[in-house]
Amino acid sequence: MVSRRDALKLGLVASGLAAGAAPLAWSARPLRVRDHTVIAKPARLELLGPDYPSTEVWAFNNMIPGPVLRAVQGDTIRVRFRNRLPMVSTIHWHGIRLPNAMDGVPGITQPPVKPGEDFQYEFVLPDAGTFWYHPHVATYEQIGRGLFGTIVVEEREPPDVDDDVMWSLSDVTLTKEAAISPNFKSLHDAAHAGRLGNVILVNGERGPATLGVRAGSRVRLRLLNSASARIFRLKFHGHQPLVVAHDGHPCTPYALTESILFSPGNRLDLILDCTAAPNTVLEVEDEFFPAMRKKIGVIQYTSRSPQALRKPFTGLPPNAVLEPVMAGAESVKMVLEGGALSNKATRETIWLMNGKGNDHGSHMDIHGKQPEPLFTFEQGCTVRCLIDNKTAWFHPMHFHGVVLRERLPNGQWGPLKDSTLLWPFKTQEIAFVAESAGDWMIHCHVSEHQHSGLMGTFRVASMCRTPATPKA
Ligand code: C2O
Ligand code: CU
Ligand code: CU
Repeated sequence: MVSRRDALKLGLVASGLAAGAAPLAWSARPLRVRDHTVIAKPARLELLGPDYPSTEVWAFNNMIPGPVLRAVQGDTIRVRFRNRLPMVSTIHWHGIRLPNAMDGVPGITQPPVKPGEDFQYEFVLPDAGTFWYHPHVATYEQIGRGLFGTIVVEEREPPDVDDDVMWSLSDVTLTKEAAISPNFKSLHDAAHAGRLGNVILVNGERGPATLGVRAGSRVRLRLLNSASARIFRLKFHGHQPLVVAHDGHPCTPYALTESILFSPGNRLDLILDCTAAPNTVLEVEDEFFPAMRKKIGVIQYTSRSPQALRKPFTGLPPNAVLEPVMAGAESVKMVLEGGALSNKATRETIWLMNGKGNDHGSHMDIHGKQPEPLFTFEQGCTVRCLIDNKTAWFHPMHFHGVVLRERLPNGQWGPLKDSTLLWPFKTQEIAFVAESAGDWMIHCHVSEHQHSGLMGTFRVASMCRTPATPKA
């Protein structure tokens, strides 16, 4: 096991490598250490509002989502995690580039934190953007009962907006008494699309959410999909917000003229220019299942007279991430098999990655041992990975410790992301730089798939001969 001191040393190595010359050149705002305490424990919350019985949930600091952890790019965050759950846990910092020992993966990067025990996480935040945190133990249950929260890392020079709003989308399966259904280990859910809850929550309350805006104003809307399995397809009626970041990382802004797929684990940063007239009411719908559209949010214009529209938004400042160098890249292949409608599922594992599956509910292999990495890469190398989904199901495949780009149908490389959505019976190529040393997870972010086979690791070892160059 790596000690915390070693981890911090690794952190220096990793952030020095990751950020190239950029961090010291950031503006004059002083870097700070942000201290937080995050307590995971059972709580009672009114998920359905005051007219219904309250629900026993698991929550961080008695809130769903947990506290928003705010910092400025370049700050250090120090989180004392107290586990007061009836089972072991950890916290994973989804999308944040950090040293391996701070990644929060039980049995791989740290021992699981036992009930009644604490663990301190500490790392630098190299990237501005919208990130999130959640346990990495039995996520189908721990995230499913309410353990997740957001991390807002502000740009050193944040964009000028009238409002900065977060919508965390999730869902729960509630009984008639408004209790959370304890059926988290359903084999049916695991072999199909995962657990799709019967109530959609926005910021921990039954949707739709209401966003009050003034005509002419500019809103930054940060979206998180923290559902255990539900893929949304979001449609903004009457608005064409600009997508300005995927998974925390700025992209070339583009207008949402159609709907957009939004998978578990994903974040989207939108710039919404409120171009409609005062008193207008416009909806945001989920149309993933066209026959069962669901209202997610309502954008409600106040009666105030319009304010002047700002100039078109030109984009967020990019993060200093390592760009893949395709010449000399290492090419690997990953095959996904199994699930319902397949004859590959075995009694040990429902899903397989390159013929291997993890044990039900744990990060170990089916023999209870630490998994052999699926791949080993030299640190600094560019990796091209062709993922072949031979299953009849969607899989949002998430990679820890790297930022990836998807190969688009036109042959170009798409925006930076930390996951890629695999369509049924389709392939997708991705590329990333194997950035910091350690064993990192690759898994489907449908939690029920993750814990029934679709989870493995890749190893980043030593240094590489042809290092990637930081983006200017
Ligand atoms: Cu949200 Cu292993 O991830
Ligand atoms: Cu993650
Ligand atoms: Cu999956």
